[in-house]
Amino acid sequence: MSKWQPKIVVFLCQWALKSDSEWARRHELPQNVHVVEVPCSGRLNPLLLMSALQHGADGLLVIGCEPGHCHYKEGNYLAQRKFATLKSFLKTLGLEESRVRFAWLGETESGTFPSVVEGLISEVQRLGPAHELATRETVPCVVKA
Ligand code: FES
Repeated sequence: MSKWQPKIVVFLCQWALKSDSEWARRHELPQNVHVVEVPCSGRLNPLLLMSALQHGADGLLVIGCEPGHCHYKEGNYLAQRKFATLKSFLKTLGLEESRVRFAWLGETESGTFPSVVEGLISEVQRLGPAHELATRETVPCVVKA
């Protein structure tokens, strides 16, 4: 019997992987992993991550450039602060914080991209499917005009 495969979304800074061979490896990821390239991790809005969870993702990974290598100077630090806040908000919603990970990749972590993704997959498999979060469509409107 095959193991349950969680739906994982990876928001990957387009500058974080340093070589063509590393970029090519993202095509080797399991089919349950969807990679979204972004110009900088700092540009990500936490609401987009919430939306991914609302629409079926079981786990999220945000990958930015290592400290000192963000093309927009401090986007990676901004992302780190934003996602620390998001994680505490997840707790309020009853979702485990470890469903969302933030990682920095650079020269020193060359070749570790697949293992970072595998690490999150293992954690989410341990947790099980994320419970459904309410969306605008699923919450009945109580305010009548
Ligand atoms: Fe990669 Fe900012 S350019 S995190």
